[in-house]
Amino acid sequence: MTDAPPPAAEQRRGLLRFITCGSVDDGKSTLIGRLLRDGGFAFEDQLRAVERDSRRHGTTGEEPDLALLLDGLEAERQQGITIDVAHRFFATPRRSFIVADTPGHEQYTRNMATGASTASLAVVLLDARKGVLAQTKRHTAICSLLGVRDVLVAVNKMDLMGFDRAVFERIAGDYAAFAGRLGFRSVVPVPISARFGDNVAARSGNTPWHRGPTLLEHLETVDVEGDTAGKPFRFPVQWVNRPGPDFRGFSGTVASGRIAAGDRVVAAASGKAARVARIVTADGDLPAAEAGDAVTLTLDDEIDISRGDVLVRPEARPEMADQFAAHLLWMDEEPMLPGRDYAMRIGHLWTRASVTSIRHRLDVDTLEELAARRLGMNEIGFCNLSAGQRVPADAYAANRATGAFILVDRFTNRTAGAGMIAFPLRRAANIHRESFLVDKAARAGLTGQRPLVLWFTGLSGSGKSTVAKLVERALHRDGRLTYSLDGDNLRHGLNKDLGFTDADRVENIRRAGEVAKLFADAGLVVLCSFISPFRAERRAVRDLLDSGEFAEVFVDAPIAECVRRDPKGLYAKARAGKLANFTGIDSPYEPPEAPELHLRTEGRAPEESAAEVLEWLRGSGLAP
Ligand code: ADX
Repeated sequence: MTDAPPPAAEQRRGLLRFITCGSVDDGKSTLIGRLLRDGGFAFEDQLRAVERDSRRHGTTGEEPDLALLLDGLEAERQQGITIDVAHRFFATPRRSFIVADTPGHEQYTRNMATGASTASLAVVLLDARKGVLAQTKRHTAICSLLGVRDVLVAVNKMDLMGFDRAVFERIAGDYAAFAGRLGFRSVVPVPISARFGDNVAARSGNTPWHRGPTLLEHLETVDVEGDTAGKPFRFPVQWVNRPGPDFRGFSGTVASGRIAAGDRVVAAASGKAARVARIVTADGDLPAAEAGDAVTLTLDDEIDISRGDVLVRPEARPEMADQFAAHLLWMDEEPMLPGRDYAMRIGHLWTRASVTSIRHRLDVDTLEELAARRLGMNEIGFCNLSAGQRVPADAYAANRATGAFILVDRFTNRTAGAGMIAFPLRRAANIHRESFLVDKAARAGLTGQRPLVLWFTGLSGSGKSTVAKLVERALHRDGRLTYSLDGDNLRHGLNKDLGFTDADRVENIRRAGEVAKLFADAGLVVLCSFISPFRAERRAVRDLLDSGEFAEVFVDAPIAECVRRDPKGLYAKARAGKLANFTGIDSPYEPPEAPELHLRTEGRAPEESAAEVLEWLRGSGLAP
């Protein structure tokens, strides 16, 4: 750097966003307090301006990414679950800082991920007495995954170890051996005592052997990641602003890049193009806008754009894909099961998505890539995903602002996973839907019947198949074209590769649902008898079918009654410990909350239950 940089670049170099990782015991708050006290820091109030400035000048290019995750978590905040990520602003004469302060409680991973998604550096705090812990490795792996490029390893409590050089070097070596495989740009260890201030802001007389920088020196001088103003323009439309007939604008925050009035833009999904007419803000029109600016764009042409669309430049479009590979950080107590349907939010777009396969799970201790059938809380997996519609699939590594998404549990509305797109799967782009000359309505017209999926769910031995058989016979005698799908039968063919783990049951029902949909499309009345223990999968099947074509029949018998009936002798086996994962014994059953029909089969003949179903069908105009 020989030439004096222009003022904007100066400012850009001047800001460092970092995150502190470590548990409360490691001395995180002591360290921050020590930094503020000894570092000649100016305090937050005066420095709110830093944040504003950086927004105006695009120095906080990563900001929209944070907003993405935080916005996603907003729903959750309304549910009374708090996300504690405080951003604190301060500055020394040499540099301004924004630190994401993530308190270390049980939801730590979630908060940490949110903080790390905008940070370029992580201060990883270790206790010199304990060295590198499993937790340290987890935090480091998450930082790497979320695009943190530089690590400062603060080996704290050196005072308690007599400032022993060998201790420091061993810990620094252990850490480097681990982090070296994660592709960080720099990993710099510093021996410190947050309590007494050694090597925090001032060089310590207790560590004459330490050749590296103090913590503050490093924070003040480390290179900062390149700016996002230089990245391709991305403008996720948050809402269409149409106060009257003569104004139509698209409001949102520029996620990356810049745009000027007169520039051509296209809607990423449709490819329709127009020119930017005005860049409107509350303080008047701007000639141009950059990453971090909240603006309303008006266009010179009426093109069809709705909330969730992304405006981009024609020469730098994201690939649109409904299947892609992504790293997934799972944060929910309920495990992620491939095949299960989640709500997905990417930018301002909501769609649905499921993991089609886990390519591998990352063991954060050894960094080994392991085979996995599910992801538990705090686990990281590299997965293939399938979304309900095509979405702009920027790689997270290229653009943190647009390459991230979240998955939300559709029942609890909890943010369950954070995803980082790796690459679109091209195979998806080459598959189109074929439409035929004879369709469902035509087929149904021929038989004069309405297609319907009757979905019998309940414990083994509750009477699902028995009742379904009687209903089918009655319908058949009435001249209805029917078909039966049954758990036991499908498991002899199509589903013979599946067992009875939660993950296998999810896949079992997903396939059964797809088959039921095909039979309904063929115009049949389909009787499905599956335990189908999870409401998520029953709902997913319902969502697969057109409205009015799915009816859930809860075949309800108390477990004691099912055990007494035990038609296949399986309860006896399960209770004798000879059959694992048996529903109702050591595997859960989630009863339907609002089934179309609730049959109580205890003390009733199957014929009575079947009559109840037929009556319901008649009442709904589905049977004569
Ligand atoms: S589901 O849970 O995935 O919906 P499905 O209905 O296909 O199960 O299959 C259940 C049938 O498999 C039961 O009727 C029973 O005969 C048999 N079975 C064998 N092992 C188990 C088990 N561990 N749990 C439940 N059913 C089992």
